[in-house]
Formats: sequence, C-alpha cells, structure tokens
Amino acid sequence: MPQTGLNMGRLGNALKRGFAVRRVRSAACANCDGVMPQYAVDVMGLRFQNPVGLAAGFDRDGRLVNHLESCGFGFVEIGTVSASRRPGGGSLVAAVKNLASVRSAGRDLRVGVNIGSSRDGFGTEALGEHIAAMRALWPFTDYLAINLTSPRSPARRRLELAPCAGFLAALGAERDALTRSSGLRVPLAVKLLLDHASQPLVEVLKAAQIAGIIGVSDSVDVLRTASAAFDPIPIISVGGIRSAPDVAARLAAGAMLVQIFRAFVGGSPFLPRRIVAGLQAGTGLERAG
Ligand SMILES: Cc1cc2nc3c(=O)[nH]c(=O)nc-3n(C[C@H](O)[C@H](O)[C@H](O)COP(=O)(O)O)c2cc1C
Repeated sequence: MPQTGLNMGRLGNALKRGFAVRRVRSAACANCDGVMPQYAVDVMGLRFQNPVGLAAGFDRDGRLVNHLESCGFGFVEIGTVSASRRPGGGSLVAAVKNLASVRSAGRDLRVGVNIGSSRDGFGTEALGEHIAAMRALWPFTDYLAINLTSPRSPARRRLELAPCAGFLAALGAERDALTRSSGLRVPLAVKLLLDHASQPLVEVLKAAQIAGIIGVSDSVDVLRTASAAFDPIPIISVGGIRSAPDVAARLAAGAMLVQIFRAFVGGSPFLPRRIVAGLQAGTGLERAG
C-alpha cells in the first residue's frame, strides 16, 4: 500500500511538528475536547474516555502518542512490536522507552500494545518472543493485544485451534505470573479476523481468560453475529470505519470500542474529533439507527 505508507509518513511528520494538532485544537472542534463523559466506557476493566481508538500499525514504536492524544482518540494501540524485530515492525526497545515517558507524563489516554513475532505459527520460539515482549512492556501498557492477523504469520492467521489453544494458555499463565509478581493487572486481548468466530474458538479464548477481541471485519453483519458468538468477551471493532454513523453502527451491533486506521491516515488528524463530536451530537446514532 504505497499511498497509505506515504500518507502515514506525511501525517506522522505533521503531528511531530505540531502543525496539524494546533489546527485540530483551534479550528476543527472548538466544542469538543475528546472527553465525552456520556461515552466513557469500561472495557477489559479499564475506563476509556471515548470509544474511538487508533488501530495498530500507524505508530509502531509509540513515538507519536502525545500528539495522537491531541487528535481526540480515546485510546491508541501501538505496534505491532516483537522481541526480535520483524521486517517493517516496531522496535520493542523503542516502544518501552517511549511508553515509559508517556506514563511519566500521567496521560488519561489509554495506550495498548500489539505484540507479534518474527516467527510464523505457535511454536516455542514465537511463544518466547511474545513472553519477552509481555515482560518488557508490562509496567508501561494498559493492555496487550496478541496479533493473530499478521499477513507475515499465515499459520497464526489461519488460527489452527489446537496449537492456538496451547499458545494462548501459555500466554495466559505468563499474564497471571506477571500480575502476581508486579501487582499490576494488564488485560490480554487478541486481534483476529471476525470471520473465524466459532464455538470452539470461544472456548479457547475463555479458557485463556482473554479479556477482549480486536475483531477485524468491514461487515456490520459479521460483527453482529460474532458479538453474539463471543459474548461476554467484549469486541473492539476495526475495519472500514470512516465516520460517526459508522462508529454508531458498530456500537449498535455489539462492539464496545472501535479502532480506525486508513480513514485517519488518508483523511486528516481532525477525524477522531469529528467522529466524537458527531456521536456527542447524536447525529451518528440517528443516521445509524
Ligand atoms: C499500512 C498498514 C499497516 C498496518 N500495520 C499493522 C500492524 O503492524 N499490526 C496490526 O495489527 N495491524 C496492522 N494493520 C491493520 C490495521 O490495524 C487495521 O486492522 C486495518 O487497516 C483495518 O482497519 P481500517 O479499515 O480502518 O484501515 C495495518 C494496516 C495498514 C493499512
């Protein structure tokens, strides 16, 4: 996606320069500061100021988190990062460093990290990379998302249930050990294609106490079916969302939160605030209803 890559570079540079953010603050949404008490939502044991998040892949190392908060996101997912750097992936070391500084600045923004591996499949080396990433990121992230969608990991993307169950159970055991040793609770989510929804997969996710599903699909119908199938595990809907009515439709179909990517990258830094303002004004809900 060369155009998307170009737009990501341009937008990232504009955010770093502060140029776009100043315009966002001053012009786009004078009556909307991104804090929407009526849309604050509790998911995975965390409070989100608003339900609109940035999907993984834009800010892989967490360099732009401060700027992205000004765009009006309720949460930002950085990554995908892996312990042994994947080609084109984010650096775990840089992510830890950047998130440590975000934390010390005491942000309200929720920040999650999407973790992956340079290895395909669910073998011991991939597991080791995920565990290393969990340990390094644990004090600095609000949640961790295990990426089961990467085109670079066809076996993980296929979601073969038996190896997937063992993999997630081992990561769940690591989560429990880290919670005990640190006193910090960090929920584990998985990012997967919602087309994979099935009763056996639900059982696998429940057994590993997966707290949330970042569910990829452009289809509201697929989301509706999946949110019934995965209930009570909350779904964060991602895929094809461009506007307040799109967000309202996903929330009405059972999502608790949403993420956007291409519409933000190809549109403008104004978009999250416009969506939030649209939801606040009720226009999104009416048009989706
Ligand atoms: C250029 C590009 C890079 C991406 N990188 C990642 C990534 O590193 N990790 C990930 O989980 N998803 C990645 N994604 C997928 C997005 O997070 C998102 O799930 C997908 O683009 C669908 O959302 P959208 O329709 O709003 O773009 C990437 C997508 C694009 C277009």
